[in-house]
Amino acid sequence: MTARIIDGDVVASDVRAEVASAVEGLCASGRQKPTLAALLVGNDPASETYVRLKRRDCAEVGITSVLVRLPATASEEQILSVVQDLNADESIDGVIVQKPLPESVDAVLIDSVLAPSKDVDGTGPTNLGLLVRGYPSFIPATPAGIQQLLVRSKIDIQGMQVVIVGRSILVGRPLALVLSAKNEGANATVTLVHTGTSDLRSITRQADILVTAAGQLNLITADMIQPGAVVIDVGMNRIDDASKRTGYRLSGDVDFEAVKEVAGAITPVPGGVGPMTRAMLLVNTLKAAQV
Ligand SMILES: NC(=O)c1ccc[n+]([C@@H]2O[C@H](COP(=O)([O-])OP(=O)(O)OC[C@H]3O[C@@H](n4cnc5c(N)ncnc54)[C@H](OP(=O)(O)O)[C@@H]3O)[C@@H](O)[C@H]2O)c1
Repeated sequence: MTARIIDGDVVASDVRAEVASAVEGLCASGRQKPTLAALLVGNDPASETYVRLKRRDCAEVGITSVLVRLPATASEEQILSVVQDLNADESIDGVIVQKPLPESVDAVLIDSVLAPSKDVDGTGPTNLGLLVRGYPSFIPATPAGIQQLLVRSKIDIQGMQVVIVGRSILVGRPLALVLSAKNEGANATVTLVHTGTSDLRSITRQADILVTAAGQLNLITADMIQPGAVVIDVGMNRIDDASKRTGYRLSGDVDFEAVKEVAGAITPVPGGVGPMTRAMLLVNTLKAAQV
C-alpha cells in the first residue's frame, strides 16, 4: 500500500488564510498591522532565501515586514545593540534573528537579550522555559508546525508512540515537549533518539509516528518503519543538481520512494514541514501583536 502524502503546502495555505483573516479583524478594530522584523547578519544564501520567503508570506497575510541587515563582519556588540533597538521599538511586534550567526557571535546570548514578548521564534530562554513548565507562549515554529500538520491531517497523537530523531534546541527537544504535553493534540509517549542511540532501527520500528530531524540524507530506510506508521520528514539536505537554477535540490532524511511503500502517511521534502514552519511564524507574529 502506498502512503497518504501529507501536503504541507495545502495545510500551510489554510493557516495563512486564517492569519490573514485575523489580521484584517485586528486592523478593523483600529489596531496597527502586525509588524515582524528580521535581522539578517551577512549574506548566507540559504538565510537570504529563508528571509525572502518569510517576507513574502508576511505580505500575503497583511503583516508588515522589516528587514534589518548587518554585514558578516558585525561584532556581537553591534548585533546586541540592534536587538535592543528592536526591543525598544514599539512599532515592532515580533523579531527573528536569522541563524546561523557568524561563528564569533554567541547566538545564545543574542537570543537571551531579545524581549520574550517579541521572541516569535520561541528560542529564547524565557519562551523555552515556559514550554518546559507547561505554559507555552511562543512555541518554536517547526515543532508547532509539525503538531498542526498532524492535527489538521486528522492524525491521532494521543497515546501514540512517537519517536523523534534529533535533539536540537530548534526542533527535536521542543517537539518532544509539545507532543508529550498533557493536552489535546498531544499526550503521546515520546522517545528522543540521537547519535548516542544504539540500535536506532529497533526504536524507530516501534514508532506510530516517526519524526526525523537529523539532517542526514536517506538516514531513514524502509526497514526502519513500522508498517502503516506516520512519517514526518523535517530534514532538508542539499543535493547538487545542475538542472536547477540554484544548482541544488532539497531532499529529506527519509528514503522517500521506498518508505512511502511501507508508511501509512508521509510528508514530502520539499512541501511538507517547511511551509508549516513559515506559517507558524506568522501565527506567532499575530499573537505578539494581539497582546
Ligand atoms: N523544514 C523545516 O522547517 C526545518 C526547520 C529546521 C530544521 N530543518 C532541517 O532539519 C534538519 C535538522 O535540523 P536541526 O537544526 O535540528 O539540526 P542539528 O542541530 O544538526 O541536529 C541534528 C540532530 O540529529 C541528530 N543526528 C544526526 N545524525 C544522526 C544519526 N545518524 N542518527 C541519529 N541521530 C542523528 C543529532 O544528534 P547529536 O545531538 O547526537 O549530534 C542532532 O541531535 C536539517 O536538515 C535542517 O535543515 C528543517
